[in-house]
Amino acid sequence: MEASKVIPTAPVAEFQPKILALVCTYCTYTAADMAGSARMQYPPTVRIVKYLCTGRIDILHILKAFEAGADAVMVSGCEAGSCHFLEGNLRARERVEYAKKLLAEIGLEPERLEMFEVAASDAPKWVMVVREMTERVKKLGPSPLHREGGSPAQVAAAVQRVVAQ
Ligand code: FES
Repeated sequence: MEASKVIPTAPVAEFQPKILALVCTYCTYTAADMAGSARMQYPPTVRIVKYLCTGRIDILHILKAFEAGADAVMVSGCEAGSCHFLEGNLRARERVEYAKKLLAEIGLEPERLEMFEVAASDAPKWVMVVREMTERVKKLGPSPLHREGGSPAQVAAAVQRVVAQ
């Protein structure tokens, strides 16, 4: 009897999501910075674009991120009641909810977009939300607009160009 043949296959590279985090400088960016300084470990899947306040984030910025190849977008700002511009984070939340509806209409899973609140002193929460989003996107798989070869930095640069306009 002939032994079954083992056909060698090339190892399949694990999908590494490209996640863009649009964050406010006062809270989430400070927490992310602190996580880095404390050498907390989290997946290298996220690239940050910093805003003065999440209230400055436009739906167009979110859509541009997806068009540029992001597999997911996180918006993260101050906790409710802590926004330095009073209601910027509330406006951001409304825009995120509206953008989710737009994503669904164009055939992208709304779960690829999420809003978080991470206080400046809460570096562990930043690590947790990055891990959570990374696992979520790994389960969803690449976005239909995913671009092989494009780096998270290129996605961030595309959004920053729109923000600067
Ligand atoms: Fe952080 Fe407005 S200043 S969300």
